[in-house]
Amino acid sequence: MSKTLVTGAAGFLGSHMVARLRAEGREVVGIDNLSTGKPDNLRSFPDGGGFVFIGCDVTNPQLLSMRELTDVTEIYHLASPASPKFYQAHPFETIEVNTTGTKLMLELARRNGAKLVYSSTSEAYGDPLVHPQDESYRGNVNTWGPRACYDEAKRLGEVYCYEYFRRYGVRVKVARIFNTYSAGLRNDDGRVISNFVTQAIEGADLTVYGDGSQTRSFCYVDDTIRGLRLLMEKSVADGEIVNIGNPVEHTILHVAHTVIRLSGTSGGIRYLPLPEDDPKVRRPVITKAETLLGWRPEVTLEEGLGRTIRAYRERMGGGTRS
Ligand SMILES: NC(=O)c1ccc[n+]([C@@H]2O[C@H](COP(=O)([O-])OP(=O)(O)OC[C@H]3O[C@@H](n4cnc5c(N)ncnc54)[C@H](O)[C@@H]3O)[C@@H](O)[C@H]2O)c1
Repeated sequence: MSKTLVTGAAGFLGSHMVARLRAEGREVVGIDNLSTGKPDNLRSFPDGGGFVFIGCDVTNPQLLSMRELTDVTEIYHLASPASPKFYQAHPFETIEVNTTGTKLMLELARRNGAKLVYSSTSEAYGDPLVHPQDESYRGNVNTWGPRACYDEAKRLGEVYCYEYFRRYGVRVKVARIFNTYSAGLRNDDGRVISNFVTQAIEGADLTVYGDGSQTRSFCYVDDTIRGLRLLMEKSVADGEIVNIGNPVEHTILHVAHTVIRLSGTSGGIRYLPLPEDDPKVRRPVITKAETLLGWRPEVTLEEGLGRTIRAYRERMGGGTRS
């Protein structure tokens, strides 16, 4: 049977991807160095029984000769810190995993004749001057700032993908993923939905940076994972960059008020200064995903936040899956 490799398997998207692939009956190998991911996220998938875990850094060249990886036919390269809190604390590791790590995974794909989906990001558009963003927009990114280690490393990761596609014909697909959320995010992850929901359940004020008028487009994790699966499956997406995100845009203040209403918290809102280089707007054009993949998100923000609040409440009350 063909095997799928998921890098960053113990992280938020990685563990959801492992769950989805195992539910489809696929054999899966997961790699993770557990820098931001948690073993607990994989506790439903003990070694053996269709899942093998390799605790290793994805930049380690020994991976190329590992027996467990010789018959891998699909690679989801999801390893990388994703929250600004974590990537800004580990800038060099973030650069390495998205450059050296991406090159190594592409090389593995080349040797195995495997397909590869690379998790790039809407951050490749930086603080966009064009709104909404389609894949042809080249971005407004700052090399000289606290977000550069992530944004620019992802952009260079895309360049590696392009060269492996062009020179070696590796069936590479690049997903520019926009903000994805669900209860799978760590409480201390630092991204906006995990912050808001954790604060709401604790009865604390929700922290809004700036005046909250900045916008984001939030995609529920099930929709994102379905998009990534289709990207892998569809050969029309080979050598393509595709936005995977929800095209419904909300201000951060609207999201805060929705969390307050749905959770019934007694907390209010606390305003803090906007971090440097924080994007002011963010909304994907998803025409390409609709055309190539037949994909569009199905879960509304209201529905997704409702599910997320219920799951966090259960977890914070009784220690369930994170
Ligand atoms: N979640 C989002 O909204 C979002 C948006 C855009 C892009 N992405 C991308 O999707 C991927 C997954 O994001 P996430 O939200 O699940 O983040 P996450 O931090 O929850 O998971 C990342 C995982 O990668 C692992 N990892 C990091 N560096 C590694 C290395 N050198 N070797 C092996 N494992 C390593 C971490 O331990 C963690 O388990 C990332 O590449 C991220 O940049 C995510």
